[in-house]
Amino acid sequence: MGIQILSSAFSVPENCVTNDDLAKKVDTSDEWIRSRTGIGARFIAEHETTSDLGYAAAAKAIERAGLKPEDIDCIVTATFTPENFTPSCACLIQEKLGIRELPVMAFDVNAACSGYLYAMNVASALLETGQANHACVVGAEVISNVLDWEDRSTCVLFGDGAGAMVLKADPARQSCFYAAARGDSSGALETKSLPVHRPVTMDGNAVFRFATKAMSEAVDRALEKSGLTIADIDWIIPHQANIRIIDYVAKKARIDRSKVYVNIDRYGNTSSASIPIAYAEMAEKGLLKPGMKVIMAGFGAGFTWAGALIEI
Ligand code: ACO
Repeated sequence: MGIQILSSAFSVPENCVTNDDLAKKVDTSDEWIRSRTGIGARFIAEHETTSDLGYAAAAKAIERAGLKPEDIDCIVTATFTPENFTPSCACLIQEKLGIRELPVMAFDVNAACSGYLYAMNVASALLETGQANHACVVGAEVISNVLDWEDRSTCVLFGDGAGAMVLKADPARQSCFYAAARGDSSGALETKSLPVHRPVTMDGNAVFRFATKAMSEAVDRALEKSGLTIADIDWIIPHQANIRIIDYVAKKARIDRSKVYVNIDRYGNTSSASIPIAYAEMAEKGLLKPGMKVIMAGFGAGFTWAGALIEI
């Protein structure tokens, strides 16, 4: 039993902020940011909320699937920056889709930057067990709300945005999911609860060490579960946190770098939105063809990490 990705779409705020724009506000430079992270620009919300971005991506994905909002009976939103504790971002998206009165299961998942793959994992289980027919899985973040704009070591890294996919069960397709966590309260990567008492803080080196190991493991486990080898894989879509992490993992796993999709230069790190934004962008460019096998791999605060192998 597997799942089919019927469609995908993404949405970013209107306001694009380049590294040079940031250098006018904090003591940094395009050269520092680009060489350390691969990031050249990111979108920062001025008026859009997490559910606004999530809704825009979800509505487009549903339309692209040839469906109507009322065909969706499950909405799972991955986010660590919802505008409310409750109602969840998924419930707000349900309302914006105009399907508030229908029997829709809607809830949020928080596994930080691994959130999207956790959300796909959960939605797939609901589809495969017949508890839902069409799931809309959304990754949406307005991380700019929880950043310290005076801390140059963190504020340059992140961006806002949302991505969404519409999924349905398909017994003929192969898909495998892997997810893991290692509870960590050392402060290596954290955001305190709302109202934000302390914005995102990070021990960059500790996160780098964790990330390279976790991403490699996510790829390995997805392969192990599917019985495939890296040669069978057409694309790797990694969480877009840092180009050096992506390059390191690709080199270590001997993955052909041309099979690894990267768009961090234009969006920064959008946390749980990064993988669905990358997927939707690839679909729009015609890079994803039926029958292709794709591995998605991510890591995040928690710590968490996750992988998925999907047949397009
Ligand atoms: N501009 C200019 N200088 C800066 C900036 C900046 N934006 N940020 C930090 N610096 C300075 C520091 O103050 C320090 O100066 P000092 O030597 O005078 O004290 C110097 O640059 C080096 O700082 P480091 O933190 O050691 O820089 P490093 O080379 O380690 O790069 C980075 C930092 C990019 C965060 C790196 O640690 C990294 O890649 N970590 C991985 C974590 C990551 O990518 N996280 C993404 C989010 S987490 C997620 O997605 C789950």
